[in-house]
Amino acid sequence: MKNIVVLVSGGGTNLQALIDAQNRGEIINGKISCVISSKSNAYALTRAINNGIPTRVIQTKDYKDNISYSKAIHEALYEEYADVVVLAGFMTILDALVIKAYPNKIINVHPSLIPSFCGKGYYGLNVHKAVLESGVKLTGATVHFVNEIPDGGAIIMQKAVEVKRGDTPEILQKRVMEEAEWNILPKSISLFCQEKIEVIDNKAFIIEE
Ligand code: GAR
Repeated sequence: MKNIVVLVSGGGTNLQALIDAQNRGEIINGKISCVISSKSNAYALTRAINNGIPTRVIQTKDYKDNISYSKAIHEALYEEYADVVVLAGFMTILDALVIKAYPNKIINVHPSLIPSFCGKGYYGLNVHKAVLESGVKLTGATVHFVNEIPDGGAIIMQKAVEVKRGDTPEILQKRVMEEAEWNILPKSISLFCQEKIEVIDNKAFIIEE
């Protein structure tokens, strides 16, 4: 059974999708063993507590720089025996020291179809604002491994979502979450826990039975 450690910063609807999938028995060979939040007031913490999942708060604001913050996260992941780390609305880019310690073991959900609308500065509602400004008709979500390039790791799963006339960033964000993120994140984590994802040349492939 793999220990899944989920890193959060906000509302935690993706964490909730993982908890719901776990409760339905859909996370095969994995268990959410700890939720770590970068903010003490994140609602994601309440979701974890309501489901009996251990929590830790490691606040960005308590550290002098990204390196010392990343060291604290690294230490916590080690103490929690993390086998896989999920960034579920985690709003800090971790230093390479953490990424190197967990090669192809850190998984992020991003609210666009990478390589569009991603990289530095593209997070949360900013992504959906940029999508609407561009006039594209399709957006979506991507689940990918984390490497040292922001949003540059091997793509595990993607799902497209329609952009509709009259969408606001908030409306579009909700559709992308409901139709894509909450669906492909738990599926990807279950596949990872079953060791059904292989990575070759920064490309991920799902091993079919
Ligand atoms: C989600 O849309 C997630 O994809 C996005 O923030 C939101 C968090 O929502 N993450 C990023 O933009 C990371 N680059 P949640 O806290 O309700 O899961």
